Amino acid sequence: MTKPSRMSGVAALLALSVAPLAGCWGGGEAKPTDTSEKPAAQKDSGSGGPDYAKGGSTYVKDSYEYYGLGDKYTPEQKKGRDTWIMWTGGNQDFFRLGSVKAGQLGVPVEYFRLLDSRGRPDRFKRLGLINEPNFRMATEPDKATGLWLDQWGGDSTYPDTKVYGEPTGIVGLRKFPNPKFDAAKWDLAAYQKNPASTEPPFYVGMACAFCHMAFNPLNPPDDPENPKWENLAANLGNQFLKEGAVFFGDGKVVFGGENGGRGLGNEDVLFHMGETQQRGTSETSRLSYDFINNRTRSTPCSCWSRGRRSRTRRSRPSRARRSPRSSTRRRSASTTS
Ligand code: HEC
Repeated sequence: MTKPSRMSGVAALLALSVAPLAGCWGGGEAKPTDTSEKPAAQKDSGSGGPDYAKGGSTYVKDSYEYYGLGDKYTPEQKKGRDTWIMWTGGNQDFFRLGSVKAGQLGVPVEYFRLLDSRGRPDRFKRLGLINEPNFRMATEPDKATGLWLDQWGGDSTYPDTKVYGEPTGIVGLRKFPNPKFDAAKWDLAAYQKNPASTEPPFYVGMACAFCHMAFNPLNPPDDPENPKWENLAANLGNQFLKEGAVFFGDGKVVFGGENGGRGLGNEDVLFHMGETQQRGTSETSRLSYDFINNRTRSTPCSCWSRGRRSRTRRSRPSRARRSPRSSTRRRSASTTS
């Protein structure tokens, strides 16, 4: 993969991205397990893994029923709430298209590294993502796909998963079973290297709540990594979200397969752009801090690759080539002073 194609791929990806846009289970208050039947969508989700809904007395179910006004919402208000928190408007297809197009340019973009359940215990700390209540960390990869996906306890008060998709364990990210998925052709390692090459088992979509839902300041969670629905507020915006790091840093959505699967490293300028993006910013505010990473201004840094930096230097206009207008102005300013 050549560097120019990589950068043009990233530019295309950024254009796409602005367009739509374990521990505490069973703490002190363990309630008896709710063994009532799981919703149909949970049964056929294919996510496999252990069945926590029948997992014994340590399982504390936290129903979506408790969100906001609970049963006091009118049906219209409920629809509005669910649209904001769970509806993707079909953008899972758009994101898949983005993965395919970027993959064709040699830029791997995929979401299962971000969803990897082994990251659940410190997801909020690392990325500002809000863990969805009524989930727990997987203890093993799904047998059919090899994916580590958070395990849902099921919820009979949940809106129709056929419309809203299934929850992923991260508030605002929804997964939809992919009808084009063919288990015989599935190869997780090949997919992560080039997501364009294989149809994944799920498409991942994003609801507004991904960036807009965080803790209720009047009722914050005891443990930020394990909030309950009653600890969440959808109207303030998630000021903790590290969007840049989600994509180019530890979230490993883009280039997640590099460095043996560890994602971009310290030597990559994109990593630094992601890591220094202010929490809670997106779109135009994303790059406002260009004095930090502006490669023609910042102090040479051994952590960035020499090749890329020296190319930037060569393209910087020299003093002699600056426009005559600015040098005239400077000269006249010095004669008048
Ligand atoms: C990728 C993250 C992200 C997603 C997804 C997202 N937003 Fe936002 N939104 C933001 C950020 C960040 C701001 C604040 C921008 C600023 O103030 O500069 C914002 C601001 C807003 C505002 C202005 C709020 C105000 O107080 O001025 C509205 C309204 C809004 N978003 C609606 C939506 C809707 C509707 C959706 C879903 C269709 C959505 N957002 C999805 C990140 C996101």
